[in-house]
Amino acid sequence: MRQKYPHLCSPIKLGNVTFRSRMFSAPMGGTDITADCCIGPKSTAFYELRAKGGAAAVTVSEVVVHPETDGSHMFHLDLSTPGCLAAAAYTADAIRRHGAIPSVEFSHSGQYAGTYLTDKNKKQGLSQWGPSATVRPDGVKVGELSKEQIADIVKAYGDCAAIAKRAGFEMIMVHGGHSWLINQFLSPYFNHRTDEYGGSLENRVRFAREVLDSVRAAVGPGFPIEFRMSGDEYFDGGYHLDEGVRIAQALQDKVDMIHVSAGSYQYGFKLTHPSMFEEHGRNVYLAAEIKKHVSVPVATIGGLNDPEQMEEIIASGKADVVYMARALLADPELPRKVMENRDEDIVHCMRCFVCMAERAVTATRRCSLNPLIGREIEGSEIRPAPVPKKVLVAGGGPGGLEAALTAAKRGHRVILCEKEGQTGGILKEEQAIPFKHEMYQLGVTLEKLARDAGVEIRLNTEVTPELVEKEAPDALIVAVGSSPIRPPIPGLDGENVILVNDYYLHKDEVADQVVVLGGGLAGSELAIHLAREGKTVHLVEMRDELAPDANLRHRPILLSELDKQRVNIHTGYTGREVRADGVLCATKDGEEVLVPGTTVICALGQRPNTAAVDALRPTAPWVTVIGDCGKVSNITNAVYQGYHAALDV
Ligand SMILES: Cc1cc2nc3c(=O)[nH]c(=O)nc-3n(C[C@H](O)[C@H](O)[C@H](O)COP(=O)(O)O)c2cc1C
Repeated sequence: MRQKYPHLCSPIKLGNVTFRSRMFSAPMGGTDITADCCIGPKSTAFYELRAKGGAAAVTVSEVVVHPETDGSHMFHLDLSTPGCLAAAAYTADAIRRHGAIPSVEFSHSGQYAGTYLTDKNKKQGLSQWGPSATVRPDGVKVGELSKEQIADIVKAYGDCAAIAKRAGFEMIMVHGGHSWLINQFLSPYFNHRTDEYGGSLENRVRFAREVLDSVRAAVGPGFPIEFRMSGDEYFDGGYHLDEGVRIAQALQDKVDMIHVSAGSYQYGFKLTHPSMFEEHGRNVYLAAEIKKHVSVPVATIGGLNDPEQMEEIIASGKADVVYMARALLADPELPRKVMENRDEDIVHCMRCFVCMAERAVTATRRCSLNPLIGREIEGSEIRPAPVPKKVLVAGGGPGGLEAALTAAKRGHRVILCEKEGQTGGILKEEQAIPFKHEMYQLGVTLEKLARDAGVEIRLNTEVTPELVEKEAPDALIVAVGSSPIRPPIPGLDGENVILVNDYYLHKDEVADQVVVLGGGLAGSELAIHLAREGKTVHLVEMRDELAPDANLRHRPILLSELDKQRVNIHTGYTGREVRADGVLCATKDGEEVLVPGTTVICALGQRPNTAAVDALRPTAPWVTVIGDCGKVSNITNAVYQGYHAALDV
C-alpha cells in the first residue's frame, strides 16, 4: 500500500527505542487518580485507547515528583506510594501491548502549586516553593527553595525515573515548560537567585541539567529522555524564542529529544493550547527555529489535527515528531486512520475547550465529539445488538447522525431522514466561518461515516407520523433540532435582517456596518468573524454579560478576541425596533439609543421543535428524543445523547 503521508508515518528512533510513527500522544492531565495517588483503572483505559488508536508514544501525565514541596493537586500521581508501582505497571503494559511506547511526564508546579485544584480555596493550605520568594497575584506566599531542597527535588526526579522504568515505561518526559518549576528556574521573570542557580543563562539551566542527570543516572544510557519546554514564554519579562534556542542548546547533550511547546501559566496558557481563533500549528515556528540550532530530534505541538499539515512539518524538516493532545481526545484513532490512508474518516477537534473546562470544574474527562472519553473502561468496542432492528432517525444534525452511525455499527437497519437537502443541521451555518470549519466538517464526516456503516440517508424527507407508520420501525430516534427565536420586534422581519443560521447563504449581502442582535455564543462568534472581515460590528446583548453559555476556558478567549477585533459591545441593551440604519435599543436606564448598522444579524437563540416531537412521540414502539429538540443545548449533548440512544435500541 502506498502511504499518503510517508514522512508522518515513518518510524523514528530515540535512544535505543524505535517508535512506529511520528505521531505522539501528548500529556492530557491526570484524572481518575486514586486516593493513594496512583493511576486509576479509568485512566489506564483512557491511555490504552490512545495506543490502540495508533499513537507511536502515549504520554501519561503528570507525576508530581516531589509532593513535599508540590501540592499541585489534592490527588496527584505520586510514584512513592505503596500501590503506585503496580498501577503504573498496568498502565505501561496497557499501552505497550498495542505497539505504542509508554512514556510518563514528570512535573513539579513550583510556585504555582495548587492551581489545578477544582476547589481553589484549598490551595491556601498547600506548600508553594519556587526559585525565588514572592507573593503570587492570588495572594499565596511562595518560599525560596534552599539548596538542600533543590538537591532533594533533583534526587526525587531520579527516584521517580527508576520506578517508572521498573514499571515498564520506556520514555520519560521531563516537563520544563508552561511556567512550572523547571521553567521557573529557566525564566528571568521568576528566577531572581543570586547563587549558582540564578542570573546568567548558564546558571538558570543548572537545575534542569541536574534534573536530567538524575533521570539519566536512574534509567541508564539508551533510554529516551525528552525535555518539554516552552519555546517562548509569551509574556513580557519572560524569555522569548532567542533565549528558548539557547536553553535548548544548553540542554541538548542531556536528552534524546527537545519537545517544543509554548506559553505559560503566567500568561493564562493562552497560546499553549491554541484556540479556534489561532492558526493550526501556530507554534510550529518555535520548533523549526530551535531545530536549526540543535542536533537532537525536535518535537512540535499546538492545534495540529490535519495530516497534510503534519506531513509537511515532518517532510520539510521543521520538526521530527508531532505531538497531539486535543485531536486525540476528539478521535483517538487519528494516527491509525492516517496510517491506513483513511484521513477522511477523522473526526477533527473543534478546539471548543470542553475538555479543559470539564477538567477544571469536575476533574473528569469530556470531549464534545467523543462520548467515550474518560469512560473507555466501559468498553470502546460497539457490540452488535442481540437482535437487529429497524431504526428510523428523524433529523440529520450531529445528534441524529451520531445516533444513526452508532445504531448501524450495532448491526441495525437504519434509515435517517433529513428534511433539508443537506445533513449537518445547525452545523451547516458554520461553513462560512473559517475558524469554525471543524464544526461544519463534523456534519460532513459523520454523514460519510454513517453512509459507510450502511445507514440509508434520505434527504428532503421530513419524518411525519404517516412516514413512521409506513416504515414501521422498531425504534424511532427523534433528533429534529431547534428553530431560531424571532421575537416580535418591529422590523425584525425586514429585508436587512439575516438570521445567524442563514448567514452562510447570505454572506455576500452583509453591509460594511453590521449590528449583531444577541450576544450569546453564536452571535459573539459571528461578530468576531465579521470584524475579521473588516466590517464595523456592533454586538447588542440584553443581559449584562456576553456568551454566558460559553464554557469557562473558551469564554475568556472569546471575550479577548472580541476586544482584539474591536467589536463594539453594547450589553444591557434591549432591541426595540429594527430600522434601515440600525437597531433602536433601550438602555437599562430607559434611554433610547440607535446602534448603527445597515445589516442586522438576528442571533437571539433557538427554541426546541416541540410540536414535531409531540407529533412523533406516539408513533413507534420505542421512541427516544435527543439533542436540541428535547432541550436546546450544545453539540456535546447532541452527540452524547445520540450515541446512547443508539446503544439503548
Ligand atoms: C485536557 C488537557 C489536559 C492537559 N494536561 C497537561 C498536563 O498534564 N501536562 C502537560 O504538560 N500538558 C498538558 N496539556 C497540554 C497538552 O499536552 C498540549 O500541550 C496542548 O493541549 C496543546 O496541544 P493540542 O493543541 O494538540 O491540544 C493538557 C491539555 C489538555 C487539553
